[in-house]
Parts: sequence; C-alpha cells; structure tokens
Amino acid sequence: MTTTLITGIGELATNDPAHAEQGGLLGLLTDAAVVVEGSRIAWVGPAADAPAADVQVDAGGRAVVPGFVDSHSHLVFAGDRSAEFEARMTGQPYTAGGIRTTVARTRAATDEQLTSHVARLVAEMRAQGTTSVEIKSGYGLSVHDEARSLAVAAQFTDETTFLGAHVVPADTTPEDYVVLVTGPMLAAAAPHARWIDVFCEDGAFDVDQARAILQAGTDSGLRGRLHANQLTYGGGVRLACELGLVAVDHCTYLSDADVDALASSGTIATLLPGVEFSTRQPYPDARGLLDAGVRVALASDCNPGSCFTSSMALCIALAVREMRMSPAEALHAATAMGAAALDRDDVGVLAPGKAADLVLLDAPSYVHLAYRPGVPLVAGVWQAGRPVVHDSR
Ligand code: NIG
Ligand code: FE
Repeated sequence: MTTTLITGIGELATNDPAHAEQGGLLGLLTDAAVVVEGSRIAWVGPAADAPAADVQVDAGGRAVVPGFVDSHSHLVFAGDRSAEFEARMTGQPYTAGGIRTTVARTRAATDEQLTSHVARLVAEMRAQGTTSVEIKSGYGLSVHDEARSLAVAAQFTDETTFLGAHVVPADTTPEDYVVLVTGPMLAAAAPHARWIDVFCEDGAFDVDQARAILQAGTDSGLRGRLHANQLTYGGGVRLACELGLVAVDHCTYLSDADVDALASSGTIATLLPGVEFSTRQPYPDARGLLDAGVRVALASDCNPGSCFTSSMALCIALAVREMRMSPAEALHAATAMGAAALDRDDVGVLAPGKAADLVLLDAPSYVHLAYRPGVPLVAGVWQAGRPVVHDSR
C-alpha cells in the first residue's frame, strides 16, 4: 500500500485525547507530520521524528485539520427558493410551508436530475473541506419518492436518513400520513437508510406522532434522530433525550428543563447556525449548553429553504461570532462531535487507524476558519487517503 508523508504542518488539530494535555480540546501539535497508508492514518507526531514514506508532501508551515463531518443535510431536492429567501429578507417570517414547494419540484425531477444535483452539492462540500456528510430524504413524501430520494443519497454516503415525516403533504390528513410513513413508506425506505428522523414542530409532527414514527423506525432496524425546537418551544428535545437518541438537531428554543435533559442524557445537541443566519431567527444558546455540560455538534443543514449553505467554515464562524463558542470548540463540534452525532468513531479524529480525512488550510492556524469569515481557506483535501482537492501551491 502506498504511504504518504505530509510534513511541515505548522499546526495540526488531531482531536485525539492522547494529545489533550499539551494540545487541549483539539489535541493540537505544532511542527507536526502525518503518515497516510491507503485510506487510513498510520502515524501522527513531530515532523522531526517522522518515518520515511513513498510520497512526501510539504504543508509549508500551514495548518491541517480533520475533514469536516456534516451530520445534517437535505441535499436531495430540485428547484430553487431564492424568491422565498428574498421575501424573508424583506420582512416575511420563515415558515416550514415552503417545504411543499420543493416537494412538488422534487417529485417532478428525474432520478438523473436528482443524482446530478446531489453530486454537484457533494462536490461543493468537498471543495470546502467536508469529507463526511449525512443526507436526508424528506422532499418526496410519497412511498416512491422517498425511496428513490434515499437510493440517490446512498450513492454518495452511508449516512442516509429517512425523513418521510418532514411535513404532511397537502393531499392527506396527519393521521393517514403517519400510517403511511410508519407502514409502506418505511418499508420502502428502510433498505436505503441508516437513520430515521422526524420534524417535531408546530405545523409538522407533534411529540406523540414523532414517538410513534421513531418507534416504527427502530422496529425496522433504523436509528432515530430528530429535528426539534427549531421554531418554537416544545417537547421534542425532551423526547429525544428520553429515547436516548444520539442527536437532536436545531435546539433553538430551549427551556431549562430541555437543557437539563440534554446534559443528563448525553444526547448531542446539533446546532445549525446557518439556519438562524438565513431565517433571521435568534441563534441557539451554544455557550449556555456547553457550560451546562451538553455535548454540542455543528452542521450545515444545507437545504433549499431554511439554509442553503454547504459551508462548514461559515457555520464555525457563526458559532464563534454569534454563539460565543471558542474557535477550538467550534472546530471540535464540526469534526469530532459531528462524527459522534453519527455514532462514528472512525472519522473526525486524526490518529493512527482512523480514516485519512484531512484538510490543509491556507493559513497558519485553524483559528483562521473563524478569523477570516467567507474566505476560501481550503488548500487541499484528502478523503480516505485520496487527494480530492489538490494544493495549488
Ligand atoms: O432543517 N426543519 C425542517 N426542515 C428543514 C427546512 C426545510 C425547508 O424549508 O425546505 C430544516 O431547516
Ligand atoms: Fe434539517
């Protein structure tokens, strides 16, 4: 197997607890090197001690971080909602009603159109340093369209999520739709999905419906996750904690009881600050959550309605500037915690045996991800050991 030595790394964020004593939360090493063997990391340490390898790459003193793990996205869709965004920026509130617009466009698209659209977005993410992505269905909302959305998503990632319970389509009642989602739709979706998700919110699905849908998913071998407390206070976050779900996403409107439940259950709160940026809602209280001992991840929520960004660097910058996370907490949340939110321990950490998913930044420090918002800092990306973005220097 070919070995590659990446040396001259001015600052390496490993996320490896073995380096926490000197390197803090990110397990930072300076003047470091990494050896990649095939798809895995073989060695991490001081550049001066690096073993020989078949190929050598010089980072030139720049920073290397783990590839971003984007644990929440809705990439399978067709159509454009920029007019809705424009209306929102001139005073209209965000409502989840726009989802039905995308459903109509998605149903009308061919498999080829959906696939090439997802391919474009995944490439856009990769160019910005995302090496693992979760992709949800949720714009099909029929047995056929949910199953094919997941089949499309599964061409790009193992982390596929059945979100038939996104909203109730216009032509049915909530009661009938829950029967469909937990019955024939789940049966058609389950072979293509690892996870099941529900949009638990006023105007979408209530706590009892979410519980029934998650239970049916679990009975079919899927693992649960939840959209909750995005637009209003409610019982969704507490349901996720009670069920011991690995992650509950959005967490914008939280009561003290919600925060306590998150802290004691260990369920990860995945914050999606691109949504608040793009909907002009208040940001979630990341600082309060971290200080209460809650595990926090960051993800993009890339979707055509509430947040059409694929940039994890933007999410990090927003988390630091608007949600008072430290730059280290934000990078950790976008990498190691994103992996934890997908119950993965093979990505998000740069240590021997882990996936060789690395991002070379055109910057001396990871801090530049927040310090230089909006600047394309990704100079190189290795995904499973393969260079997928080439250093132009
Ligand atoms: O995560 N909250 C529900 N679903 C998406 C938005 C979907 C849309 O507006 O199209 C979200 O924000
Ligand atoms: Fe979402």
